[in-house]
Amino acid sequence: MLLRIANVFSREETDRIRSALEQADWQDGRVTAGYQSAKAKYNLQLAEDDPLAHEIAEAMLQRLWQHPQFMSAALPSKVFPPLFNCYTAGEFGYHIDNAVRQVRNSAERVRTDLSATLFFSDPEEYDGGELVIHDTYGTQRVKFAAGDMVLYPSTSLHKVEPVTRGARLASFFWIQSLVREDAQRTLLYEMDQAIQQLTADVPEHPSLVQLTGTYHNLLRRWVEV
Ligand code: NI
Repeated sequence: MLLRIANVFSREETDRIRSALEQADWQDGRVTAGYQSAKAKYNLQLAEDDPLAHEIAEAMLQRLWQHPQFMSAALPSKVFPPLFNCYTAGEFGYHIDNAVRQVRNSAERVRTDLSATLFFSDPEEYDGGELVIHDTYGTQRVKFAAGDMVLYPSTSLHKVEPVTRGARLASFFWIQSLVREDAQRTLLYEMDQAIQQLTADVPEHPSLVQLTGTYHNLLRRWVEV
């Protein structure tokens, strides 16, 4: 399932973050790519120990762990600390992300079940730069408003189209989910959304208790903790 999570940051917050990022100390993006993807990668990144990157990443994660749609869709177990990139000319050819990511200066490893990109540039600020994802239901071309995020299974083949004008600032990261399989997460997400809707529309309906229980019993079958 490919999902848009809108307004992770407000317009005002996004503007502030973008201004800070525009002043940042950008470096060659190939440092975080694996051997094979390094050949396909051409962009700028913030160093993983860059204090600005660290500060924005903290704010993102704090926001996301309180975000009901993100929590429902990703069912996160742990998150690889967000990275930041800037495409001004380059592209990033088709690839599938590495299955496991080692967190810098830590013994922690994250299995990449979900990939996320949070946009900090608005679509009209640059040409090209679409994130093209081969989804179960075909090819999706993603270019969201600044402050919006796309969440998609890390098993998907994807690429970033060449940027031909302007700059595309974004953050990208990976999530290890409590539920490994995309199909199971999708079922749980859809069921949770329906339960939330019913809770708003018919809060006293007795079947809500049963449905909520069934959600948790399904989750219990599939969860890995
Ligand atoms: Ni990728």
